[in-house]
Amino acid sequence: MKGLVAIASCAFLLAGGSLYGDDDVEKASNADAYATCAACHLADGTGIPGVFPPINNRVATIAGLEGGREFLMMSVTFGLMGTIEVDGIQFTGIMAGNKGLMSAENIAAALNYVIFELVDEKNKITDVEPIAADEVVALQSSVSAGGPAIATELRKRLVERHAEQWPR
Ligand code: HEC
Repeated sequence: MKGLVAIASCAFLLAGGSLYGDDDVEKASNADAYATCAACHLADGTGIPGVFPPINNRVATIAGLEGGREFLMMSVTFGLMGTIEVDGIQFTGIMAGNKGLMSAENIAAALNYVIFELVDEKNKITDVEPIAADEVVALQSSVSAGGPAIATELRKRLVERHAEQWPR
């Protein structure tokens, strides 16, 4: 009986530990939120050549560029379409927006998973803050009629503006 109590309180402590050590909590929920993205971009974010672009090791860099966070939140909220080039491969597809399907919290969580988990040491960006649900809400309410063309336009401008810094 004593042993059981000890195990129970130990489990409680462990649960409490991860509840307040936000790293663990974020990881679990971010991974869950990313599950919807994995259907196309795959669990490791490598995508499918010519069909779904890779987002691993690149989205972290995009998040660190001026305007990059807005582009990421915009794409996942309102979608993205047209031809984009990644690593010399062209992708002409359409990603549907998730507004109304995913909460702002989950959009932020999915993006944070890509930014902080789907990245190797070499491509880690140290000075990027996690995307907050509030930021997603603010961005969504700044756009009256959203559609995939908005992120497409924004991406074009960012690719020009950041030229060499934009991840291939
Ligand atoms: C139904 C398939 C599908 C799903 C699900 C999907 N995407 Fe996409 N995603 C695409 C396609 C296709 C493109 C490229 C669109 C184009 O050609 O303009 C894309 C592009 C992107 C880009 C832009 C990459 C760049 O280099 O500009 C990001 C970022 C992204 N997706 C993140 C996500 C995240 C995060 C999720 C989950 C919330 C998600 N995607 C879910 C198909 C999908």
